Amino acid sequence: MPKALITGGAGFVGRHLTIRLLSLGWEVDVVDPIYPGTGAIHPDRGWPFEDPRRYSTFSFYGQDCREFFKSSEKKYDYAFHLAAIVGGRLVIENQPLAVADDLSIDAHFWQWAKERRPGKSVVFSSSAAYPIRFQTWENYTLLSEDMIDFTRDIGVPDLTYGWAKLTCEFLARVAYQRHGLRSVIYRPFSGYGEDQDLSYPFPSICKRILDAPNGSEIDVWGSGLQMRDFIHIEDCVDIVLATMDKIDDASPLNLSTGIFTSFIDLMQAASGLCGKSLRFKTQPDKPEGVFARGGDTARQLAFGCRPKIALQDGIRKAFDFRKELDSRQKAAV
Ligand SMILES: NC(=O)c1ccc[n+]([C@@H]2O[C@H](COP(=O)([O-])OP(=O)(O)OC[C@H]3O[C@@H](n4cnc5c(N)ncnc54)[C@H](O)[C@@H]3O)[C@@H](O)[C@H]2O)c1
Repeated sequence: MPKALITGGAGFVGRHLTIRLLSLGWEVDVVDPIYPGTGAIHPDRGWPFEDPRRYSTFSFYGQDCREFFKSSEKKYDYAFHLAAIVGGRLVIENQPLAVADDLSIDAHFWQWAKERRPGKSVVFSSSAAYPIRFQTWENYTLLSEDMIDFTRDIGVPDLTYGWAKLTCEFLARVAYQRHGLRSVIYRPFSGYGEDQDLSYPFPSICKRILDAPNGSEIDVWGSGLQMRDFIHIEDCVDIVLATMDKIDDASPLNLSTGIFTSFIDLMQAASGLCGKSLRFKTQPDKPEGVFARGGDTARQLAFGCRPKIALQDGIRKAFDFRKELDSRQKAAV
């Protein structure tokens, strides 16, 4: 049975990946200090869909991966590197130096990988690494993997978060070229899911629409016209598992649908699905980030991968999840 390390495995992406690997019979070590302000949930608090502790092959280390790297002597077939300080657009914009800690986390990861040589490093970068000049109102297009070219032009990424991700990708290339360390880089776009932290737009919009009385007004950050590429987390996990053994040279793959959806479109779709007619009030003082960020899917298609969960179905899942959560909370009172 393969042995996997997952840094940041108690976060949103990590929980889905952990459960999937455990259910496939893998041995999984999650290292996560449950960093405040991120999407982390301690396993003892109960994960939303399934309790990882019911698998005897699950181990949890509640520590910073930088500490873990100093002491652990274990060998892993796969090291999934997800640890990062993310926490939604407000954290990315308002705490740029806290986010810059990701530079340190990633540097420690690659130094550890050089010593411990996991069979494969599976590394989560971000679509924030792409040049922002291709994401403006005047000039936007679907972003393809080759738009970051470390030999010619890397462009300007999105704030410290994007710079840290770009640097991590560069370190992965160096690790492969100089030390023969095999890795694959994923660039998720707006990965969403029912159990995502409410500091992210998708779950927050779904919750607010569900809670809003019919005919009322709800807020939308910025102009509401900004567009993102929403991909369900289970599609992300499927694509990772289908491709991670096919790429060794630290080259990147988008996790995207290729579909631009504006926040107002998302809100209209969600309110339509719950049969409500709502008005949307723009909040120009709230950050909207780049105007349009969507990922080209040609390389995913070349690997035979295509996301399966339509946004409408993702919204339905989110509504069902919230309703169940609300009824469980009411029953507990
Ligand atoms: N969710 C998405 O759509 C998306 C999009 C782009 C990139 N990503 C990347 O995917 C990865 C996972 O993102 P997520 O959405 O699950 O975020 P998240 O905030 O839910 O999870 C990040 C996890 O990393 C942990 N962490 C922070 N510092 C750590 C450290 N020093 N050692 C170990 N763990 C640490 C946090 O406690 C948290 O559990 C991140 O690298 C993120 O940049 C995610």
